[in-house]
Amino acid sequence: MTIQLKDDAGIRGMRVACRLAAEVLDYLEPFIKPGITTNEIDQLAHDYMVDVQQCIPAPLNYAPNGYKPYPKSICTSINHQVCHGIPNDKPLKKGDILNVDITTIKDGWHGDTSRMFSVGETSIAARRLCQLAFEAMWHGILQVKPGARLGDIGHAIQRFAESNGCSVVREFCGHGIGQGFHEEPQVLHYGKPGTLEELVPGMIFTIEPMINAGRRDIKELGDGWTIVTRDHSLSAQWEHTVLVTPTGFDVLTLSAGSPALPSFVTTTAC
Ligand code: MF3
Ligand code: CO
Ligand code: CO
Repeated sequence: MTIQLKDDAGIRGMRVACRLAAEVLDYLEPFIKPGITTNEIDQLAHDYMVDVQQCIPAPLNYAPNGYKPYPKSICTSINHQVCHGIPNDKPLKKGDILNVDITTIKDGWHGDTSRMFSVGETSIAARRLCQLAFEAMWHGILQVKPGARLGDIGHAIQRFAESNGCSVVREFCGHGIGQGFHEEPQVLHYGKPGTLEELVPGMIFTIEPMINAGRRDIKELGDGWTIVTRDHSLSAQWEHTVLVTPTGFDVLTLSAGSPALPSFVTTTAC
């Protein structure tokens, strides 16, 4: 396994790409209302990235091994869709929960982040799941420091999610990121403490747990991309790109519009 460590210039490049990705989500938030279609959100995001930020939407025509080229600039995954939902012409409706996943390329560096959005008023169960997935991601991030191992991250996420009656999707994971969209290592969202790769300063990877209200099993739709829960239970995901620093972590995909950190983060980190 070769994990590309980033030097100071690489970290500077990554900071910019990551901030831009987060700022696309800030820009989109006020548009996410009942009646808008995910194609309209995709167009808004595309034009903002290309015309305002002068960056490249990484998903557009992205074609990893075994996949056909992804046809849109962002991923929009609604309700029981787990990830990689393709924008379309169906209007959002009150009560939907939606993940918007943005990946920018700026000066060759990739920034990758996603958030959940509520469309109008949503059910208590949907809101709880979104909050749980958010906190699960942060429990993973809090593990990040030199000497810790990737298994510590996965374990923290899995323990939190499962102790709250939810399940963790196993088939998709976080990933190293830099000049490549998906680099080594794989960052599993389940696992055993003290196992897998040791973290060292200069590593940059995403943490992006997909948390299901029901069973963890998933299936792929006929479009070759969209992943849904097999039992059609709701699914939620959040994603940050994280740098391992000499003393801990630096979340590169924070922006003015990022939601407040959970209270357990501000009291234990930094
Ligand atoms: N942004 C996704 C991730 O977090 C990957 C999307 S691949 C795409 O890794 F082609 F669907 F955009
Ligand atoms: Co990612
Ligand atoms: Co992403």
